[in-house]
Amino acid sequence: MLVIENLHAEIDGKPILKGLSLSVNAGEVHAIMGPNGAGKSTLGYVLGGRPGYEVTDGSVTFAGQDLLELAPHERAAAGLFLGFQYPVEIPGVSNVQFLREALNAQRASREEKALSGAEFLKLAREEARKLDMDAEMLKRPVNVGFSGGEKKRNEMVQMGIVNPKFAILDETDSGLDIDALRIVGDGINRIMRAPEKAVLLITHYQRLLDYVQPDFVHVLADGRITRSGGAELAHQLEREGYAEIAA
Ligand SMILES: Nc1ncnc2c1ncn2[C@@H]1O[C@H](COP(=O)(O)OP(=O)(O)OP(=O)(O)O)[C@@H](O)[C@H]1O
Ligand SMILES: [Mg+2]
Repeated sequence: MLVIENLHAEIDGKPILKGLSLSVNAGEVHAIMGPNGAGKSTLGYVLGGRPGYEVTDGSVTFAGQDLLELAPHERAAAGLFLGFQYPVEIPGVSNVQFLREALNAQRASREEKALSGAEFLKLAREEARKLDMDAEMLKRPVNVGFSGGEKKRNEMVQMGIVNPKFAILDETDSGLDIDALRIVGDGINRIMRAPEKAVLLITHYQRLLDYVQPDFVHVLADGRITRSGGAELAHQLEREGYAEIAA
């Protein structure tokens, strides 16, 4: 479903990704762990198409298309979703407006008809309820004044509404309280665990992986994948750290 080969990318002329290769099949959940500054978020941004991140070598194929040729909105329309490590605040735009625009733009690109205000609100309320988020938060400006954990939960509501094929979730577990961690973990499984979907889960800790069990775990260090294994690799890393295992 997603095939990354020998990916090199730089920011302001500084190489960050240095020959990263990774293949994700439909139906799989892959966890990516690795030291601070290794390039995990950079990988997410490059896949999402964030400006300023220059790919200097390598290729990324998503569902048979050259992903790097597509504009960010085309990547979203193709089914890619990026959950941010630091979700952005958008003053002046309500969550409902933002999500309805996003969903209807994607529906239009798939030649599906737009949802009316009422239809959309029903869907959004339902998703908020499933993630135990107060529906009143849908009316507030996107993420403005939300607590750290509320922002992360809001991202999962967004994911539930747009229903992507492939989600890259960057430290979705950070800042969540113990109950929220379970709710978000269950949400990821409910929304994304399906034979035709896949997830790249960037995390520092085993705790989210207790809920969303990965099929594969990779270590990203110094811009490339240095080690891959099964779910047990995350336990081993937690016990022993990166120095021994993935240097
Ligand atoms: N605009 C920039 N200019 C220069 N260096 C940058 C810029 N943006 C990111 N970097 C550097 O790129 C490297 C990789 O950053 P990235 O955010 O991808 O790391 P990460 O693996 O996600 O780390 P963390 O676990 O702390 O989230 C870091 O050394 C960072 O300082
Ligand atoms: Mg990061």
